[in-house]
Amino acid sequence: MPSKYQAWRVHPNVSTHDEKSIDILENLVLQEAEKPVPDPGQALVRIHAAALNFRDLLITAFSPKYPVSTIPGLSPCSDGAGSIEAMGPSKNSRWKVGDEVIFRVTNSWDDGDVSNFKGNGLGSGDIQGTLSQYLLVDESWLVKKPSHLTWEQAASIAGAGGTAIQALFHNGISNGLDLSGKTVLTQGTGGSSIFSAQFAVAAGARVIGTTSSDSKAELLKDLGVHEVVNYRTHLSWADEVLKLTDGRGVDLVIDVGGSATFEQSLKAARFGGTVAAVGFMTEPQPSDPGLIHAIIFGAKTIRGQMAASLEMYHELVEFMERHKIEPVVGQVSEWTEAKDAFKALMRQSVPGKIVIKV
Ligand SMILES: NC(=O)c1ccc[n+]([C@@H]2O[C@H](COP(=O)([O-])OP(=O)(O)OC[C@H]3O[C@@H](n4cnc5c(N)ncnc54)[C@H](OP(=O)(O)O)[C@@H]3O)[C@@H](O)[C@H]2O)c1
Repeated sequence: MPSKYQAWRVHPNVSTHDEKSIDILENLVLQEAEKPVPDPGQALVRIHAAALNFRDLLITAFSPKYPVSTIPGLSPCSDGAGSIEAMGPSKNSRWKVGDEVIFRVTNSWDDGDVSNFKGNGLGSGDIQGTLSQYLLVDESWLVKKPSHLTWEQAASIAGAGGTAIQALFHNGISNGLDLSGKTVLTQGTGGSSIFSAQFAVAAGARVIGTTSSDSKAELLKDLGVHEVVNYRTHLSWADEVLKLTDGRGVDLVIDVGGSATFEQSLKAARFGGTVAAVGFMTEPQPSDPGLIHAIIFGAKTIRGQMAASLEMYHELVEFMERHKIEPVVGQVSEWTEAKDAFKALMRQSVPGKIVIKV
């Protein structure tokens, strides 16, 4: 068995920190490393596929917008799927060589509320990530791979799927994993929003999606989304959502746009409704005193979402297996062409998840 393996690592080779600049890809370098031997409590995983999230652009850019500073030499990416090749000596591990696994984004939050979340995520700060042929991790990072998914599909679920589970089912809106009688709004066709839309449909909600193009609207409809609003042709898209809901608004908005979408998201939420703040795709806007008015006199709840607990990951796997949900994988790049995958993520042209074969 070869003792060396390859990993993509980030080094601050360019001066720009703009995650939309193609130049940041010069920070990504393919390197060789020596295969490590697991200590007790550790597993060495042969990664078969890794998937990208928007945060991986920020990390590759060494962007100050990401809350944790990146060490040079970090392998980015939290999402991946693989099989355990070696285990450290242990008498009572629940894992064994050959098990097929994915990784949770943080290993610090097992159950309870988010106050139990400490430390950083995989592929950020100084914690090596999945854009690597091998990853040595503490067993606490491992989650069983859903049995019905390919490596590429399984690689794409952890970050976006875990967040969707938390946003939909842990905000006091659902009845367990049931959203019958509730209306949910999702934004766009990025990896994160497509999971939210798929899960909300499977849980029995009425789902309204927004998107930037009519072709992407068709994709949402194919996934079971009930109504779609084009936010480019309807700049005040919340008015369209209010029309669709007889003026009431939706129970839950899953906001990925951030600053530039938040006002519309608040307007689209019903009286007493919730906006789950998941993403920050847009640039900061001047603060608007009208927002506070909208929150107070709409009795609205704003919930920041951060990753998912181990309990939520178990729900994610069980929910996807039960409903036979397959992630939308929009592009699969070969290992040596990993930079093409980052370019596609920058262009926002590919709906769903962008995966790299490892
Ligand atoms: N809090 C967490 O734990 C967590 C977890 C995962 C992701 N996130 C965050 O969620 C955001 C989305 O992540 P992602 O990985 O899904 O990104 P992504 O796959 O790159 O999503 C890109 C898509 O977002 C949509 N979009 C962009 N600007 C928009 C706008 N102004 N209004 C509505 N939709 C817009 C576009 O879809 P259309 O062209 O169809 O409109 C675009 O194709 C990021 O900010 C990411 O950091 C947070």
